[in-house]
Amino acid sequence: MSINIAIDGPAGAGKSTIAKKLAEELSYVYIDTGAMYRAMALYFLEHQVDAENEEKISRECRNVEITISYENGEQQVILNGVNVNGKIRSEEIGHMASVTSVYSAVRTKLVELQQELANRENVVMDGRDIGTCVLPDADVKIYLTASVSCRAKRRYDELTAKGETCELSVIEADIAKRDHQDMTREHSPLRQAEDAVLLDSSDLTIQEVVERILALVKES
Ligand code: C5P
Repeated sequence: MSINIAIDGPAGAGKSTIAKKLAEELSYVYIDTGAMYRAMALYFLEHQVDAENEEKISRECRNVEITISYENGEQQVILNGVNVNGKIRSEEIGHMASVTSVYSAVRTKLVELQQELANRENVVMDGRDIGTCVLPDADVKIYLTASVSCRAKRRYDELTAKGETCELSVIEADIAKRDHQDMTREHSPLRQAEDAVLLDSSDLTIQEVVERILALVKES
């Protein structure tokens, strides 16, 4: 049986950085499920599919094939045979992913892929519904969060380090909006699983969070 670690939480809580480090330390496979929703969103944007039109989105899902592979330990998302990793990190795609991930046709397709992957390998998987829906029997479940202002500041620092100009207040508003969308949707809303451990990373370093989770893995 494979060992599965589920990490859920809102945008900007540090899930991917922490999940990646954890996977490295444990020699597990890191699976970034947000990247899969982003790849779907890219498809809808490129094909000008109206995000409000559930019927059309559901039909289009049949034309989308998403798989993942690894290059130098980094997850690559393959959309209909093309590696789209370089195209899915923008705010526009993040927003479209949040809007289109509310539809059950989109979720069903990606959850199946995620469950297959976790069945085959020991994984650290991050997302919004991993502990509650994708891997309800995960060995360790973490709900990783941080204050909105703290998450916005981290995102701001990340973007300015890349040379992008942005405004802290706009990022903060965007994060709050995305939280609301992810937490209030009908299908698999973001919430802490009953058996998940809550970790607030606002005043912790990345390494401190990783060590706390490693301790939980050892205990499990
Ligand atoms: O984590 P990331 O910001 O890349 O995710 C983009 C969007 O994809 C999220 O805002 C959320 O709406 C959606 N998502 C989801 N379920 C997941 C992972 C991501 O609904 N397991």
